[in-house]
Amino acid sequence: MGEFLSGWKRTCYCTELGKEDVGREVTLMGWTNVRRDLGALIFVQLRDRTGLMQVVFDSSTLSKEDFDRASTIRSEYVLAVKGVLEARTGNMINPNMKTGEVEVKVTEFKILSAAETPPIDTGDDCNAGELLRLKYRYLDLRRPCMQRNLMMRNEITRITHEYFAENGFLEIETPMLTKSTPEGARDYLVPSRVHPGSFYALPQSPQLFKQLLMLSGFDRYMQIARCFRDEDLRADRQPDFTQIDLEMSFVEADDVMAMNEGFLKRLFKETLDFDVQLPLPRITWQDAMDRFGSDKPDTRFGMELCDLSECVRNCGFSVFQNALNDGGSVRCIVAKGATAHFSRKEIDALGEFVKTYKAKGLAWMNWKPEGLQSPIAKFLTEEELEAIKAKANFEQGDVMFIVADRNPVVWAALGALRLKLGDKLGLIDPKKFNLLWVVEFPLLEWSEEENRFVAMHHPFTSPMDEDLPLLDTDPGKVRAKAYDIVLNGNEIGGGSIRIHSTELQAKMFDVIGLSKEQAEARFKFLLEALKYGTPPHGGLAYGLDRVTMLICGAQSIRDVIAFPKVQNASCPLTNAPDPVDAKQLEELHIAVVPEEE
Ligand code: AMO
Ligand code: AMP
Repeated sequence: MGEFLSGWKRTCYCTELGKEDVGREVTLMGWTNVRRDLGALIFVQLRDRTGLMQVVFDSSTLSKEDFDRASTIRSEYVLAVKGVLEARTGNMINPNMKTGEVEVKVTEFKILSAAETPPIDTGDDCNAGELLRLKYRYLDLRRPCMQRNLMMRNEITRITHEYFAENGFLEIETPMLTKSTPEGARDYLVPSRVHPGSFYALPQSPQLFKQLLMLSGFDRYMQIARCFRDEDLRADRQPDFTQIDLEMSFVEADDVMAMNEGFLKRLFKETLDFDVQLPLPRITWQDAMDRFGSDKPDTRFGMELCDLSECVRNCGFSVFQNALNDGGSVRCIVAKGATAHFSRKEIDALGEFVKTYKAKGLAWMNWKPEGLQSPIAKFLTEEELEAIKAKANFEQGDVMFIVADRNPVVWAALGALRLKLGDKLGLIDPKKFNLLWVVEFPLLEWSEEENRFVAMHHPFTSPMDEDLPLLDTDPGKVRAKAYDIVLNGNEIGGGSIRIHSTELQAKMFDVIGLSKEQAEARFKFLLEALKYGTPPHGGLAYGLDRVTMLICGAQSIRDVIAFPKVQNASCPLTNAPDPVDAKQLEELHIAVVPEEE
């Protein structure tokens, strides 16, 4: 049984004490990190959320009864200790510990809680698998790196609130039980008890509500908002995640971007002491795809894509010919001076790698010291080869990788290969933070699956003024007033200027194939609202988890979320999702159909 505090009060955290405090009487509370029993002396490293302090139980100053009690202390026991801060001398000083020059000589103590041996190590060198770590997440969160991550997350939200409050943004909450908001994922549905057969949807984002708030005149809104999307999980995706969401009235894209540049500058300065140079670079979506094969380019290194279509337009290689005849392209990347890094086997493995991006193959040229090796050289004339070398700056010692296909496949395959090679060849500087805007996104993208256009961002995004006429004639060519903010190859946020007229909004629904009836059923309230005086408005949302992950240098957003879900969207700690009682289902008018074997 643990002791009670009986009036004891903590005077400070472990790491708030230093040499200047020697002689002070202190009361510390925390967990037993490490315990060393030297017979007459017992050393305990006490741990709280700030760090460690060595506390010493000395048999020559404590009563026998107290010292015997001290010898029962084990790892993760929760202690309250009173004592005097003393200086450590000579080789007792621990330069690896923040408080390594001092220790607390214990005069009185309480064992507030005993602890069983934890199933996972609570130190940073814990090597338990992630599933086990998440099953015992409350112990996993005791690890100093996890404590740092969550404290950094708190720091980020604090700075966010401060910055946007200083700039006149109001934090306004929007509902969790709501109607479907289309952000391109599946909805999580919540059955209604009082409306049999009807469902709420959890919000994929506060999008429509923040737009309505602009219409109501709040002018500048922000919210740290929980969002829910039923989509395939990855290292940077959770079903239940958080946005820093904002919206502004009477603005154009430049105004929203400028406001956010100020935020990013402040955020990186205050968290990492990193100076972001403003204004941030901007790249159009088209250039991002052409140069990096990605709409979220990692610009920390070069190895840009190069279009070889003109050099090989009449060559004898049918694979290239077919791609060009289908309206596609032939493009390459060049790994400079890297010939020694690629064995035949490795190149073949890269061929398999690009197939995961739907490329049919990977052509290559390896210009070794002894000459050019390439399975496709035989299809090229001397002139064609020279043209390729000139176009791609391909020199002896370099390796070139070529993909021929429809453009989206070429971009995806070479974009991914570029990142893989950048990593393999050590071209990516982990200390760089390259922020940039990607602008002029296509408004629509063609969905082969659904055989219709779908909104690339969401259907409330405004087309660019000069492209408006194309909406009728060539919708695929219309660019949007949309912008994404990208950090080191990660999309950390995105936003747009919205449509603020009923007519244009109705037209947009029409272009994406919603019938009038469908549009009414889903968005009647919006179409109606837009009629009553809507200011031009726009905004943006950051993925808070992604921002935090990158600032913490974590590998996955799971490491910056207190209680995340795993790949199959379950929670190993609580076992959610769970079956529920028949009675609950009955109340909700729900019958579960067992899955067929
Ligand atoms: P979007 O859908 O681009 O825009 O989302 C904004 C940002 O949220 C993050 N994000 C995610 N993070 C973790 N897990 C997920 N499953 C996940 N999905 C998205 C990304 C992304 O950039 N309403 C619009 C914003 C606007 O137009 O103002 C929206 O939600 O970092
Ligand atoms: P093949 O003549 O089909 O064996 O292909 C010769 C080389 O071209 C092989 O290295 C293939 O990987 C490569 N290749 C095949 N299809 C493509 C493609 N669509 N783009 C680039 N290279 C390809």
